[in-house]
Amino acid sequence: MTEPRPVLVVDLGAQYAQLIARRVRDAHVYSEIVAHDLSAKEIAAKRPAGIILSGGPLSVYEDGSPHVDPELFQLGVPVLGICYGHQLMAKDLGGEVAATGDREYGGTQLHITEPGTLLQDLPTQDTVWMSHGDTVTRAPEGFRVTATTDHIPVAAMEDRERGLFAVQFHPEVSHTPHGEAVMKRFLYDGCGLLPDWTPTNIVDEQVHRIREQVGDARVLCALSGGVDSAVAALLVHRAVGDQLTCVFVDHGLNREGEPDQVEETFARHFHVPLVHVKAQDRFLAKLAGVTDPEAKRKAIGEEFIRVFEEVAHDHAGARFLVQGTLYPDVIESGSKTAANIKSHHNVGGLPDDMDLELVEPLRDLFKDEVRAVGAELGLPEELTQRQPFPGPGLAVRIVGEVTVDNLAKVRGADHIVREEIRRAGLERETWQAFCVLLADVASVGVMGDGRTYETPIVVRAVTSEDAMTADWARLPYEVLDTIASRIVREVPGVNRVAYDITSKPPGTIEWE
Ligand code: XMP
Repeated sequence: MTEPRPVLVVDLGAQYAQLIARRVRDAHVYSEIVAHDLSAKEIAAKRPAGIILSGGPLSVYEDGSPHVDPELFQLGVPVLGICYGHQLMAKDLGGEVAATGDREYGGTQLHITEPGTLLQDLPTQDTVWMSHGDTVTRAPEGFRVTATTDHIPVAAMEDRERGLFAVQFHPEVSHTPHGEAVMKRFLYDGCGLLPDWTPTNIVDEQVHRIREQVGDARVLCALSGGVDSAVAALLVHRAVGDQLTCVFVDHGLNREGEPDQVEETFARHFHVPLVHVKAQDRFLAKLAGVTDPEAKRKAIGEEFIRVFEEVAHDHAGARFLVQGTLYPDVIESGSKTAANIKSHHNVGGLPDDMDLELVEPLRDLFKDEVRAVGAELGLPEELTQRQPFPGPGLAVRIVGEVTVDNLAKVRGADHIVREEIRRAGLERETWQAFCVLLADVASVGVMGDGRTYETPIVVRAVTSEDAMTADWARLPYEVLDTIASRIVREVPGVNRVAYDITSKPPGTIEWE
């Protein structure tokens, strides 16, 4: 079994790289995002089947603008340049790029002069999405210009012989109606790839990889009740059977009823032993007095691993630990191209001196891909479609100290939100709906005849495709109304409810 050769998306500094990588995967081809400062040799070592140069916000002539190793065009690997990548390719190969002042932004008419490889499925006049200042004014030697617009002479170009393709517009955005066809022509015709990166093949490949990594050693898997850990556990179970022991660490930061639910789901879908560790007191002790979000995350991540090491010790020398780390966790925990936003519990929060080696079969996947793999493995929809819940649990939904009291408030409010969202049939439409407790804030209210001076709860509900960006959910007023009155009535110590209407960016989904 061979690993799929990736299409590498070279991140040239905008948010487009992520979207391009997703579009490639939507075409059932495996893709990875890489930093632009890799040398051509480092790129070649990844054995890419194709390379895509992303868009970027700068001009190729600007100081500090990102560049690629020009040797990359000599590797014999097909390359697609998009927007900034188009200009970079033109410049590096001897064409001309100029600031003509002909800035194009938004939906633009593309005139196709010859279909070539990339544009053969498009009508001769078509709308595409543009966003650029500089313009390619002359294509490099050996290239044929395949499209123009009223403003620019080289809107698309290709050198079929060398496998080099470039477009000034953005085929990856939904505002380019035939963008998907352009991407597919690059992947299937330009790179000669087949659409074979499917859930079935992902399962086969991961099972193979896990067997190679683990051999005949014993493996522990942390189950959280969420879809990621369940899918990761099932993959490992398929790969190494009863070498796997699943562990549920109850850190006391779970939602209402969750520990029982984990036991119940587990009994139905897994046929390996489950170790249930009740460790609330340990976690609360580590969190006493901690209010800084990163310190909380690190404390929880570290204690988690300590508990695990003890379980491993009791389980005759387990050497591996399965984690449901996802690709966005990897990207967001800080790579060369993305700033470190939060230390995700699964990645950045782990101590360096950990004794267990990680098995992370979902590390290359986005959430919706994990759901598809879960379905392929036979998990029911109620589990594969469950809303995400962060590893550090309710601790990152208390702004302030994590105490038994504060946990009770946020857990009680969360229970109401989830119940009302479910009742209104909005569970699938919202990516996540939950509560945040502003533990150190108090506001004045009136209840019955008396004054109250109590803590507020913030309700947060978002829509999203993959958690990298999100919008606040336009929940119906009646649903919000029921949620707010129930929380104030039913959760002791809470007298006010606010609704968070921040999108991501600039906000993040969780408050901490
Ligand atoms: P943010 O808050 O960064 O969250 O916009 C993006 C998505 O990730 C979830 N999340 C986490 N998941 N461990 C996890 O397993 C974590 O430490 C963690 N922090 C955030 C969050 O719920 C959202 O779906």
